[in-house]
Amino acid sequence: MIQPKLFHLSTVTLLVGVISGFSSPALAEKTAKQFVETNCAGCHALSEPESSTTTRIRERKAPDLYYAGNKFQEDWLIQWLQSPTRIRPGGTFFGQNVVAAEDRDIVPKDKLPEHPAFNASEAEVAASYLMSLTPYDELISSTAYVPKPISGAMGRMNFTKFKGCVACHELEKGYGGISGPEVHTAGSRLKPEFLYSFIKNPQAWAPKTFMSNLHLDDSEVQKLSDFITTLSKE
Ligand code: HEC
Ligand code: HEC
Repeated sequence: MIQPKLFHLSTVTLLVGVISGFSSPALAEKTAKQFVETNCAGCHALSEPESSTTTRIRERKAPDLYYAGNKFQEDWLIQWLQSPTRIRPGGTFFGQNVVAAEDRDIVPKDKLPEHPAFNASEAEVAASYLMSLTPYDELISSTAYVPKPISGAMGRMNFTKFKGCVACHELEKGYGGISGPEVHTAGSRLKPEFLYSFIKNPQAWAPKTFMSNLHLDDSEVQKLSDFITTLSKE
């Protein structure tokens, strides 16, 4: 995959100076936007695509970031951009990456390039811009979710056996399906309200996603969300 040219430190040092206050916030915002457009737009959608099709979902190079401010915890973004780890074991769309091996499908290592890493100031600048992308405030505010601790054993049974979520999501490294993002880090990566709202209605966030809407009632969504947030603290 072609790496877009990184826009480098002289600009970023200047930019951090700008953000830390000796110029107008509007200018800082504009520069942060420019940084993200230059370094991230080659792979990620930063604004809502005109039409959502399953072809786009299959072919996109990276997950969408246009609602990043409604989705991520800013502290996580800042850390992860400095030392990114794999989130989707099968890549952005596993169907592009898996190959059949003798007894099961595998993802060849060279199919999944490392994510570019950024230094601390670059990560803060990028995270601040991503946090301003909030087209789905309404979906977030319609959810009054407050995480509660839950029994790990019951939660695990529910996630694996009763609801079958483990078919697509890893519960721990190497255990679970590889077509969705790992869930054992989701509690520290995602806003709790996003987690809840996405499980309740995945298509409200990502219209053509292949995670189905199970039409779970609120108490079921609460239990699954509690399990996932508790997992990330274990
Ligand atoms: C060469 C392509 C490429 C570039 C450039 C790139 N990314 Fe990514 N990014 C990816 C891929 C592929 C993933 C999915 C990784 C995974 O799930 O394991 C990803 C994942 C992410 C995620 C997690 C998304 C999610 O929904 O889980 C964030 C946040 C992110 N990138 C931010 C950025 C930012 C900010 C920049 C620019 C400063 C950037 N990326 C530049 C390819 C790229
Ligand atoms: C058929 C496969 C499949 C099943 C079954 C499934 N998911 Fe997903 N899930 C996905 C995919 C793919 C995504 C990524 C969607 C996107 O960002 O476009 C996702 C995203 C998520 C997210 C957001 C995670 C993130 O990092 O963006 C959560 C939380 C989640 N699923 C929880 C669940 C729970 C709980 C269940 C069981 C009720 C479940 N999923 C069942 C495929 C699945």
